[in-house]
Amino acid sequence: MKVLCTGGAGYVGSHAAWVLARSGYDVWVFDNLSYGHRAAAPEGRLIEGDLMDGELLVDALKSNDIDAVMHFAAFAYVGESVTDPAKYYQNNVVGTLSLLDAMRTAGVGKIVFSSTCATYGLPEIVPITEKEKQAPINPYGYTKLVIERAMADYAHAYGLGFAALRYFNASGAASDGSIGEDHDPETHLIPLVLDVALGKRKEILIFGDDYDTPDGTCIRDYIHVEDLADAHIKALEKIEPGQGLHLNLGTGAGASVQEVIQACREVTGHEIPARVVDRRPGDPDMLVADASLARKTLGWEPKFVGIKPIVESAWAWHQAHPQGFDDRDN
Ligand code: UFG
Repeated sequence: MKVLCTGGAGYVGSHAAWVLARSGYDVWVFDNLSYGHRAAAPEGRLIEGDLMDGELLVDALKSNDIDAVMHFAAFAYVGESVTDPAKYYQNNVVGTLSLLDAMRTAGVGKIVFSSTCATYGLPEIVPITEKEKQAPINPYGYTKLVIERAMADYAHAYGLGFAALRYFNASGAASDGSIGEDHDPETHLIPLVLDVALGKRKEILIFGDDYDTPDGTCIRDYIHVEDLADAHIKALEKIEPGQGLHLNLGTGAGASVQEVIQACREVTGHEIPARVVDRRPGDPDMLVADASLARKTLGWEPKFVGIKPIVESAWAWHQAHPQGFDDRDN
């Protein structure tokens, strides 16, 4: 099968593109490199372009005989989505509608979409099932929810087949050490903590320790990027025309900010100074997936369970590439 990965030079997209390539799929990456890295995409497979360039998209789909799309391209800074929502609605929503139009023109009827647990906002019941009300608390979450809705409408009207995969906290790096997480700016907990171990930052700031959790710090469900990639491939194989899958992707086990920092201390052997500061606005106490529907529907099982193996894989990448992809002449 021939698959086009939009955002395939970004963090989750590049890991999916590599796992697809290793699994025998014919993979193409479509990325404008605004945040992605040339070196993250499988070699010779990058089509440089923007989602708003409908003609280029149609050409990329037609000339490569694409059967299905995995759509990762999106802006994903929650805080920035609050201060600059236009940027998020434009790229994430209008950009995706442009992609869906191009797919219709090119006759490509299957899409796996990167959705997010941020579509649930402040969930009433944790672990979170897909039945939980979707009520985002920031524009980023809304942009993803709008696309879930649009895909459902396109499925009904035009026969689109789709999977909306709601990730919890994507983390870790490729098992073979080839690619990993490299955001600029970096806002995610694990890479920031590992930056302290590398001596690139003095300390890690803990955003609040007065949450309603056992140690007072926020709990998240960290899911390894290769497990996410694996679920994408399994979802792709299950998509039926005119139908949609909505699945949570997490491990079902949460780790607190303190537990993540402690795991990083154990894995790296560094002291990692930490300091508690005020809460970051918009952080729910606890986001943990009930991913039993994904397990059952896809026959999928995360291979990285528990925070330590995830941190180990991230540490291998960060140690080998302390400047991220800059170390790879990109
Ligand atoms: N945190 C700190 N210090 C830091 C960075 C993060 O204490 O320097 C805390 C956060 O407050 C949060 C936890 O670590 O409690 C994880 O934070 P991340 O920023 O790594 O991840 P988020 O849970 O905020 O965000 C992730 C995805 C988003 C998605 C969101 C859904 O990165 O794309 O989950 O809640 F929208």
